[in-house]
Amino acid sequence: MTQEYSPDRFIGRPVAELITPTLVVDSEALDRNLRLLSEYFGSRPCKLRPHFKSHKCVTLARRQIAAGNCTGITCAKLSEAEQLVAGGIDDVLIDNQVVGREKARRLAELNQSATVSAAVDSPENVAQLDAAAREAGVTIGVLVEVDIGMKRCGVPPGELTPELAYVVAQAEGLRLRGLQGYEGHLVTKGTFEERRQLTLDAMRPLIEMRHALLSCGLSCPVISGGGTGTYDITGNIPGMGEVQAGSYALMDSHYRKVRPEFHVARCVLATIISSHGAHAVADVGTKGLGGEFGLPQVEGLEGATVLKVAEEHTVIEGATCRVGDKIRLIPSHGCTTNNLYRRMWVARNGIVEAMWPIEAAGCLE
Ligand SMILES: Cc1ncc(COP(=O)(O)O)c(C=O)c1O
Repeated sequence: MTQEYSPDRFIGRPVAELITPTLVVDSEALDRNLRLLSEYFGSRPCKLRPHFKSHKCVTLARRQIAAGNCTGITCAKLSEAEQLVAGGIDDVLIDNQVVGREKARRLAELNQSATVSAAVDSPENVAQLDAAAREAGVTIGVLVEVDIGMKRCGVPPGELTPELAYVVAQAEGLRLRGLQGYEGHLVTKGTFEERRQLTLDAMRPLIEMRHALLSCGLSCPVISGGGTGTYDITGNIPGMGEVQAGSYALMDSHYRKVRPEFHVARCVLATIISSHGAHAVADVGTKGLGGEFGLPQVEGLEGATVLKVAEEHTVIEGATCRVGDKIRLIPSHGCTTNNLYRRMWVARNGIVEAMWPIEAAGCLE
């Protein structure tokens, strides 16, 4: 059993006293990021539906809503939605398919106390959600997901989209909320201008599908999609209702390259446990650093670069460190990093001001 400790002893203390490895969030940088994106959507018809997968922390989701101009929260998994609803968030979109009788039952149950919609891309899944909704006496909101080139989930744009939307509209237990299309294959692509052109091209068929639905007499109240890399492209396409950006809140080294207007607010604090000359080793490895997009970056230590990351170790070169020093590592992928921790320490000017639980860490169902 891991030892649990009261956060109180660290509140008001320097970040360097925290037990490592651990996640630290700079509250000023976070507040700036939340404000920047909320203000951006303040003057547009399209709004923000921040993605929970990027941090999995209910307190932060509440902050995103409080920052304004949000339609609700997006999440990836049913068990994330359960955490959000338990934490008082009452409008949630699961931007994935919730498949299986037991999961459909749990989704229907959530709709007894909140509005929790899901994406669908098959008639089988529509029938399953419909049955669960009718059994529970609720209505489940549904978005038909369209594959706009990412080659993940979604029906291809064309006849199949209005056909599936029609099946949803006929289902007594479901409410057709509209369409979803995510341009995830483009969110960090190329220069801004290249990304803009590719995104506009990719989103065009999605907007056309809205017209296809309307011309069949179906409704399409919302189109949902977009991410941090495309918020100012997708968010300005006429007909888009909400942008599902998530990474903007805490950021990571991968996104830093394409979105300098947001500050990196998250780091993994680690301790140097071995040091010989310009070769030092920190006490965190792949088990504490989401690494899909490359090696982590060392922050605030002149000349230091990461040579390699093993399961429990990060090897650093180019700087002289002493055993016991604390260092800050910026993970290449923030979303998978947060899934590895149970808490985030929130600090201002190097002093810990709060501890936020990461309620949905490990919530994969
Ligand atoms: C469907 C969907 N929407 C939105 C996002 C959020 O994107 P970002 O991390 O670019 O903000 C993701 C991230 O993977 C996603 O899968």
